[in-house]
Amino acid sequence: MDKMVVVGNGPLKGSVATSGAKNAALPILFSTLLAEGEHVFRNVPKLKDIESTAELLQSLGCETRWDGDVFRVKVSRLQSYEASYDLVRKMRASFLCMGPMLAKYGEAVVSQPGGCAIGSRPIDLHLEGFKALGAEITQKEGYVHAATPKLKGSTFLFETVTVGGTENVMMAATLAKGKTVLENAAKEPEIVDLAEYLNKMGAKITGHGTSVITIEGVEKLTPAEHSIMPDRIEAGTLLIAGAITKGHVTVTKCVPAHLEALIIKMRDAGFKIETTKDTMTVFPCESWNAVDITTAPHPLFPTDLQAQYMALMAVANGTTVITETVFENRFMHVQELIRLGSDITPKTRVAVVRGRPNELTGAQVMATDLRASASLVLAGLVAKGETVVNRIYHLDRGYEKLEDKLSSLGAVIRRIE
Ligand code: UD1
Repeated sequence: MDKMVVVGNGPLKGSVATSGAKNAALPILFSTLLAEGEHVFRNVPKLKDIESTAELLQSLGCETRWDGDVFRVKVSRLQSYEASYDLVRKMRASFLCMGPMLAKYGEAVVSQPGGCAIGSRPIDLHLEGFKALGAEITQKEGYVHAATPKLKGSTFLFETVTVGGTENVMMAATLAKGKTVLENAAKEPEIVDLAEYLNKMGAKITGHGTSVITIEGVEKLTPAEHSIMPDRIEAGTLLIAGAITKGHVTVTKCVPAHLEALIIKMRDAGFKIETTKDTMTVFPCESWNAVDITTAPHPLFPTDLQAQYMALMAVANGTTVITETVFENRFMHVQELIRLGSDITPKTRVAVVRGRPNELTGAQVMATDLRASASLVLAGLVAKGETVVNRIYHLDRGYEKLEDKLSSLGAVIRRIE
C-alpha cells in the first residue's frame, strides 16, 4: 500500500493551480443517466472516485472515456437499473445514481451505502424526498428499491440540510410531472454547478444556491457540455499549506468567493490574504493566533476543511475550540496529530487545540479518511524530521497529484510503495 513521506522543509513558495471539484463532478457524472447520447466534460479531476463513478456507469451499460483532458460519457438506454453492493460500498456518493434512474426509467435498485468512517451518514432524507415525488420505496437484502410509473412534482422540506439528498431529489424532479419545490435545500456551490448542468440539458431549475429550489418538470433532457467548477476544498487545503509553512503561495484557477468562511478565519488569525476573482495569495506570516471555528452547511465553515484547519491551529499561538456540527465522528485525525506532537483534547463534537508553534516532530501516522489525510500531510510539512503517512489511498480518492503540486512549491514529499 502506498505511503507518503513528508519532510519539514521551510516555507512553500510559488503558484499552484486548483483541479476540478470532485464533489461537483460526481453528481454531474451521475446526472448523465437522465439523458441518452454523448455528454462532454472538461476540468474533471483524475481521481479514484471518478474511476469508481465511471465503473458504476459502465456497469449500467454506459461508455466512458478520456479523450485527452476531456471526459466523455455515452449513455444508451440502460439494460440494468441496479447498482451493486461491490460498486456502492467503494464510494457513498454512488447512491446519487438513484434519482436519475428513478426519474428516467421509473425504477432503480441501489445497494444501501452502509456505514462510513466519519459517521452513520444515513440516506433517509433522499428516500423521503423520492416518496414525496410519488415513488414507492422498499428495502430488502441490503438494497433499496424505488419504483413509480411517473414521478409527480411536490413540495418537500428537508429536515436537515443535506448536500447529497438535495442533489438526488433535484435530479429526480427534473423529469417529474409538474412543479417541485425543495425547501431547506443545501446551498453548496456544487449544487449550483449540478443545477447549471441540468439546465444546460434542458431542465428548468431556479433558486439553486438558495435554500428554496424550484424545479419545473420537463418531458426530456438532452446531453450537453460542461466544465466542472474548481475544487474549493483542494484550494483551501493548498492555501493552508502556504500559511502553515510561513510561505508565500498563490492558488490559481479557484473561486475565493466559495471560501469566504475560511479566508475570514485565517485573516482573523493574522494572515494577510489577497484575492482576485480566481486567485488567492497568502503572504508569509511568522506567527498566528488561535481562532475558533464551528463547521456548518455552506456558506459557513465547511466540515471538509475542519481537519486541515486543525493542523494550522495546532501550531498557532493560543487555544482553539473546534466544533463539528455536520458529522458526529469527524475527529479521527486528532490522535494522529497528537502523534506528531500536537496538544489536542477531543470530545464527541468539540476539540480543544492548544497551539504549540514550531514544536511538531515527524512520526508514522495513519490516514483515516480523505480530509484527515490532508491534515496529516499539512502537519508533516512543518514537523521536524520525517512524517510517514500510511494508507494514502484515501488521499487519492479526492486530491489530484497533491504530492506533485506541493513539490512544485518546494515541499519535500514523495510517495513510496
Ligand atoms: C457531501 C460531500 C462531503 C461533505 C458533506 C457535507 C459529496 C460527494 N460529499 O456529503 O464531502 O463532507 O456533503 O458538506 O458531495 N443526513 C441525514 N439523512 C440523509 C442525508 C444526510 O441525516 O438522508 C445527515 C448526515 O448524516 C450528516 C448531514 O446530514 O450529518 C450532512 O450530510 P450530507 O450533506 O448529506 O453529506 P453528503 O452529501 O454525504
